[in-house]
Amino acid sequence: MQFDEDTKRGAKALVGELVEDSTRRARPDQVAGIRSYYETKGGLYRQLAARILYSRRSLRREDGLEWSLRDLRNDILSRASSPESQRQFETWFLARDKMLRGVSARLWDLAEQHSVPQPVATPIVAQTVEIPHELLVKYMSVPLSAEADPAKRTKGNLLAIEVMSSGRSIGFAEREILAGYTGWGGLSIESVAGALPPKWTPSSDALIHEYYTPPLLCLSLARVLRKYVEAMARTKGTVRALEPSAGIGRFVNALSFGSYKAVSWTAVEYSPISAAILRAMRPDIRVVEGSFEKFVAAEESSLMGNIDLVVANPPYGERGASFNDDPNRNYRERKAYVYFLRRCLDLLAPSGIGVFLIPYGFLTGQSAEYLSLRKRVLLRHHLMAAFRLPSSLFPGANIVTDLLLFRSRGGELTEVAGEDSAIVEGRYFELFPAHLLGQELRSDKGAKDE
Ligand SMILES: C[S@@+](CC[C@H](N)C(=O)[O-])C[C@H]1O[C@@H](n2cnc3c(N)ncnc32)[C@H](O)[C@@H]1O
Repeated sequence: MQFDEDTKRGAKALVGELVEDSTRRARPDQVAGIRSYYETKGGLYRQLAARILYSRRSLRREDGLEWSLRDLRNDILSRASSPESQRQFETWFLARDKMLRGVSARLWDLAEQHSVPQPVATPIVAQTVEIPHELLVKYMSVPLSAEADPAKRTKGNLLAIEVMSSGRSIGFAEREILAGYTGWGGLSIESVAGALPPKWTPSSDALIHEYYTPPLLCLSLARVLRKYVEAMARTKGTVRALEPSAGIGRFVNALSFGSYKAVSWTAVEYSPISAAILRAMRPDIRVVEGSFEKFVAAEESSLMGNIDLVVANPPYGERGASFNDDPNRNYRERKAYVYFLRRCLDLLAPSGIGVFLIPYGFLTGQSAEYLSLRKRVLLRHHLMAAFRLPSSLFPGANIVTDLLLFRSRGGELTEVAGEDSAIVEGRYFELFPAHLLGQELRSDKGAKDE
């Protein structure tokens, strides 16, 4: 989690208070030892203190303490460079659990007594930290009929925005309403502009980008991936997962039930409105507001080769203003989905899994550009399976999409594997005709791909 400068300053001051408080209570012969301990471990305690200050803005003491420790632990485990160091961190946290709880409580109380300045950034709105099973079920229960009805969707969006803009605290009932936010893809923002507070008025990009994945598809994917994720969890403990363009977290929510608890999610979302809603619905995960390009550029070294699972239905169309947020010259792709596909796949750990819902051009487009793109991707990643989905999946968008499941090879082949040559040529569905779901009304062989 990234903190603003105010929070960082407050955290530093708070740890200073903690050291003074500890030395005041100690015997004289212990003072030097205490100071030297906090000098070495100061960074960790400042991280903990930042979380305490952050959670004090809207969590109750008990929830705030629980959240702060858990979030710190998850963050540190997710940055471990190998399963071995992950295990070491885990052992460290386990052995010091009682002590860390004590320190967190003292940090909380010291912040209160010394009124360490509270940062003025947007407050978090969560009141509880655990997202119960029944709420996850509600999150995934938006009926397909509602998704296909623009009037119902618009009403659901307005209700969610009303909850968010009211500033009222967010509990179970509010979260249920937020789950009814379906984005603005295919709707009209103009026709309800009068009902939207300025801060909660989406940009016109939302009309093109915000086609969220139907919950049924997300849940089917969760069923398919479960055994792979369980196997990863057995060997790694925590499965580090990324949703690079998360919307309000449909994939994240579907992949959070039961054994998916071993997954530590980072969800990136460009729209401040969707990101705020997602954060309110899922205070237990890391939500990063901003472009994926900016996120990946800032955290590349800790991400590269360390992500176990990526699931994405990225934006389609040409890349916009965020193109220059990622200076890495290997990924100067023009099409947004091609950028997300290649950039995310290349972050995977060896044998890590990447799932993408993208336009059909990638898999069967016949232009030289697509042939070379498929080759480039398949040299580094094995295509486990692909499914062509019915165009009715996104009502109003009139687009054919494929769901692709890849596994990282953990390196690059020098030439395309023999069994992949037909896929490079765009003939995947000749090999697997049963993976064409729905009825093909028109074959676009030789057409311009999208
Ligand atoms: C097709 S929607 C899918 C949302 C979500 N993945 C789902 O499946 O429900 C694409 C999302 O990408 C977001 N987006 C667009 N450009 C982005 C960028 N550069 N970085 C991160 N997110 C972006 C949009 O705001 C939108 O929420």
